[in-house]
Order: sequence, then C-alpha cells, then structure tokens
Amino acid sequence: MAMIASKCPDITVTVVDMNAARIAAWQSDKLPIYEPGLAAVVSGALGRNLHFSTDVVGAIKAADIIFVSVNTPTKTYGVGAGRAADLRYIESVARTIAEHASGEKIIVEKSTIPVKTADAIRTILASNGNGLKFQVLSNPEFLAEGTAVADLTNPDRVLIGGERTPEGEKAMQQLVEVYARWVARDRIITTNLWSSELSKLVANAFLAQRISSINSISALCEATGADVDEVANAIGKDSRIGPKFLKSSVGFGGSCFQKDILNLTYLCESFGLPEVASYWNQVVTMNDWQKSRFTARIIKQLFNTVADKKIAVLGFAFKKDTNDTRESAAINVCRELLTEHANVCVYDPKVPAAEITADTLGPGQMNSRLTVAPDAYAACAGAHAIAVVTEWDEFKKLDFARIFAGMPKPAFVFDGRNILDLDALRKIGFCASGIGKPSA
Ligand SMILES: NC(=O)c1ccc[n+]([C@@H]2O[C@H](COP(=O)([O-])OP(=O)(O)OC[C@H]3O[C@@H](n4cnc5c(N)ncnc54)[C@H](O)[C@@H]3O)[C@@H](O)[C@H]2O)c1
Repeated sequence: MAMIASKCPDITVTVVDMNAARIAAWQSDKLPIYEPGLAAVVSGALGRNLHFSTDVVGAIKAADIIFVSVNTPTKTYGVGAGRAADLRYIESVARTIAEHASGEKIIVEKSTIPVKTADAIRTILASNGNGLKFQVLSNPEFLAEGTAVADLTNPDRVLIGGERTPEGEKAMQQLVEVYARWVARDRIITTNLWSSELSKLVANAFLAQRISSINSISALCEATGADVDEVANAIGKDSRIGPKFLKSSVGFGGSCFQKDILNLTYLCESFGLPEVASYWNQVVTMNDWQKSRFTARIIKQLFNTVADKKIAVLGFAFKKDTNDTRESAAINVCRELLTEHANVCVYDPKVPAAEITADTLGPGQMNSRLTVAPDAYAACAGAHAIAVVTEWDEFKKLDFARIFAGMPKPAFVFDGRNILDLDALRKIGFCASGIGKPSA
C-alpha cells in the first residue's frame, strides 16, 4: 500500500489495522517491519496521501477500493487443523464491510487464500440486505521479504483476477489503471478469479519445491563427494531449468511457503485428489527433514553429544534482510539443540532478544541454556561450534581467525547457508562443513 501511495500521489491510501501498536509504529521512526528501502517509501508519502489508522469502519466507508490484507494462518483447531487456511479474519473483514459500506465498492483479496474464497466473500457481502453491489477481485502479492521494495517497484508481473462479466471487467480495469502508473501493461495479467487465487498458491508451491529438490540432492552430494553448488550451477545453466532458487540451505522458512503448500494439499484432498496432495506434501516433508538433518549432523560431529557445550547460532530471521522469524529454520535448530542440553547462544542483527526467546521457548518461557548475544563475536566466544542459519552478509566478513582463537578445540563451523569459504576456514584450523559440500 505504501508503494501504491508512493507511485500514485493523487490516490489516498489509508492503511487500517485493529492492532493499534502496529499502526502507531508505522507512523514512528521505527517501522514494525525491517525491509531495505521501505522506510524511505513510507516517509515519502506519509501524511501526504498515505495514512495509518485504527478506524476500520471509517476507512471502509470512505474507500472506493478495499484491499483485504489480513493474516490467513494455518488452522490450528478442528477440521483441517495443521493444513487448511484459517479464514476467520477474512470472514470478519467481509462482515465488517457488509455492515458498514455505504456505497458500491471493489473488494480486493490481497491476502493469500484458498481457491473459491471470493465466493464466500461475495455471499457475505450479498447478504447485507442493503442492495449494494460489490465486485470482488483477486490480486495476490508476489513480493519476497528482504527484497520487497525492489519487487514492488519492478514486479515480474501483477496478477488481477475477476469475474468475466462487464461489471467484473470494469472493476479489473480500475485496478489495472492503478498499477499501470508504474508497471508496464504487458506485465499486468488479468484472469478469471479462480485462476488468480490458485496461481498464488501454485507459485509458492513451485518455488518451495525447487528448494526442497536441491536440498534433497544436497544429502546425496554429502554422501558422494559431489558439491551441491556445482551441481546447481551446472543444471541452472540449462535455460529450461534456470539458475534461480537453487541455493541449498538448512531449509526454507517464512510465513508463506509451508502455510501455502499445506493449504494447497488440503484443497486437493477436499476436491478428491489425494495423489496431488501427497505429491506436494512431500515438499514440506523434505524441508522438515533438511532442518533436522542439519542439527543431527552438528550433534554427530560433536562426538554424539552437545550436552553442556556452547553452540553459537548465527542468524535467527528466516532469511537475510528481514526481521521476520516466522517458521524460521533457526527455531527448529535451537529447539533441537536445547533438547540435547546444549547451551545455545544466538545472535541476529535485526531480531530482538525477546523475540528469539519467545519463538524458541514459547511466550513468557525462560531457559538458562538459551542466551542472546549482542554481536557475533560474543556469540562465538567459548563456543564448541558455530551454526550459520541465516545468510546475513555480515557473517561473511567476520574475522574467523579471531573467533577461532577464542573457541575450545576442535572448533567446528556448520554453514547452513553455504556463504562461507570452507577452505579458508579449514586453513585457520576449523572443522568446517557446509550443506551438500564434500568433507575436508
Ligand atoms: N508477508 C509476506 O511477505 C506476504 C507475501 C505475500 C502474501 N502474503 C499474504 O498476506 C496476508 C497477510 O500477511 P502478513 O505477513 O502481512 O500477516 P500479518 O499477520 O503480519 O498481518 C496481518 C494484519 O491483519 C490485521 N488484522 C486481522 N484481522 C483484522 C481485521 N478484522 N481488521 C483489521 N485488521 C485486521 C492484524 O492485526 C495484522 O496486523 C497473508 O494472507 C499472507 O499469506 C504475505
């Protein structure tokens, strides 16, 4: 929404959220999300045509177009628990719009939702009894956290789905005109509603599938002496495969990939397609295995016990350049190490200590074995092993000779992101291993 406000000064954008603390933070110097370049985009439009408010009803009344961007987490209870999307926030917004809208509006699904959700929204809106007509569009968001501003500035495509009726086409065209202020028209795709809703889930499933595919091969590389980065480079040169998203790692995290694949598999089962569901479910299974494989390897190489040993975990965010920790592989790594009675010391450049503790142990829980360091050197001091879990650039520039001097020997490095020069570390004296890399 900040990008729309930035690119379209004549359009008033009001972001409303019932979370007052978040709304306050958006108007402060410390935005609630760390994202390179975002602060400048927000501050450039703030107070001009970008406004933040908790007045949900007032904003609904004033708006011509309403983007529904609420959370759609995996359901944790009842039918579909652990897989289906929890649509209660979507439904609640639809009901609020139905109750308070005083004119005809375009409702845009910006959240990632199961196919056919627009049907539910339309039914709720149609039953408001005041005869108002709404057009429901689907406009899924494809930005990646960490590169959100660049992705929004220059998107590969903008996808808009709507009803193939004259009213639906007109509504789609209105939204096309918003994006066309800065996105080339041939990159703005219009489809029917269901294609658009489904494409978002499928895009995330394909992206995650590539990571799980290369991660599965990383295990084979470790067993055979092949190097996963060399394999990825060799296959990625094939224009049919392409080089992107072939970086092996400790496993994917983030709020979307797992949630959206589980959602997709649940949908497939609901539509009587268990074979399709189990095909995609394997992407998540492989990712869980990769996360546990990383920790298992640490334990094995540390002579099958990490009890009372200090392990430095470098990075906690699910990827670099974000402070988002949702489904981060670091959470699994820390939990599994704590289960083995390791003393885990985490450092992340952007994630606050309280969040690291709460994510790992649960809200309000404490464990003296889990500590958070103010920098990487403090985290590594006296550690038996270092586990690199997030690919922050600053970890590549660390003085590893200095770190080595402060560690008990043998000193281990486990590079869960393949960002370090293993040969250089081995020359210093480290026992260094990467994901899918030949051993020394
Ligand atoms: N985070 C991403 O990079 C990303 C990318 C693409 C798509 N998405 C999708 O966008 C959606 C939102 O994701 P997010 O990461 O921003 O989630 P989030 O949980 O960070 O934010 C959702 C916000 O909605 C607010 N909210 C919930 N119900 C409300 C209501 N009835 N009225 C007003 N506010 C309400 C919450 O208070 C919260 O601040 C999800 O469906 C997600 O899958 C997210």
